[in-house]
Amino acid sequence: MRAILTGHSRGLGAGVCEALLQADIAVLALSRRGNDALAARYGDRLRQIPIDLADTRRLAALTESEDWTAFLGGEESRILVNNAGALAPMAPVGRQRARAIDRAINVNVSAALILSDAFVAATERSTDRRLLHVSSGAARSAYAGWSVYCASKAALDHHARAIQLDRIPRLRLASVAPGVIDTDMQASIRSSTAEDFPAIDRFQALHRDGHLQSPTECGRRLVEHLLSPSFGDAVTADMREL
Ligand SMILES: NC(=O)c1ccc[n+]([C@@H]2O[C@H](COP(=O)([O-])OP(=O)(O)OC[C@H]3O[C@@H](n4cnc5c(N)ncnc54)[C@H](OP(=O)(O)O)[C@@H]3O)[C@@H](O)[C@H]2O)c1
Repeated sequence: MRAILTGHSRGLGAGVCEALLQADIAVLALSRRGNDALAARYGDRLRQIPIDLADTRRLAALTESEDWTAFLGGEESRILVNNAGALAPMAPVGRQRARAIDRAINVNVSAALILSDAFVAATERSTDRRLLHVSSGAARSAYAGWSVYCASKAALDHHARAIQLDRIPRLRLASVAPGVIDTDMQASIRSSTAEDFPAIDRFQALHRDGHLQSPTECGRRLVEHLLSPSFGDAVTADMREL
């Protein structure tokens, strides 16, 4: 089995990467930085390509390369996990700035859609292909200060619903909200201000009261779901309800 994974350098993506490697799945991982700890432990089963996913031109070139088609070709199972995500700009509309909006939409939406399209195109011979978008509760509940993030995650959910109607042979897919996880993203939420993010108190309390999941454990559960026979039965799902 082989998997493409974005955002493996830290946080939830590092947990997902480790769980895939432990399941003996070879991983081609895309982040700006590498994950030295996993590389040391798993050797060449983990291939890392340093890339800024906001650079959609470079990403498109990668998906047209010999590397991409060689990694995904063949009849075996193939997986794509669109995990990389960015929360910024965290601010009310009017204070978000074009550059930050553009970067967030490129990373959270454009990159995931480009990779999904190229994944399906390159895996025509695969007997079992699985596509996972890492969504968020913010796709389904609106938060003040997070309008760009909320819109980007809702886009992933609706992308998954529409792809399902394409009825692609041997493709299972789901857009899954992982719950609240103890990562750099949560740290950046806690260090914002009530002016930019009015619900900050709730997230500070979740951390203080020990309610954050570990990224390793959450990654393990997400991969367990991804590899299960029921994956894709619900096109949008929440880990807290699985
Ligand atoms: N943490 C939570 O509570 C929570 C809750 C719901 C949903 N999520 C979702 O879960 C996913 C992972 O979140 P996390 O909390 O693990 O975030 P994180 O700690 O901020 O890590 C983000 C990952 O995405 C990669 N990434 C970010 N921007 C990138 C870019 N421009 N190009 C390439 N890679 C990029 C980062 O790698 P580099 O910096 O090395 O590029 C890193 O590996 C995200 O989609 C997030 O929206 C998280």
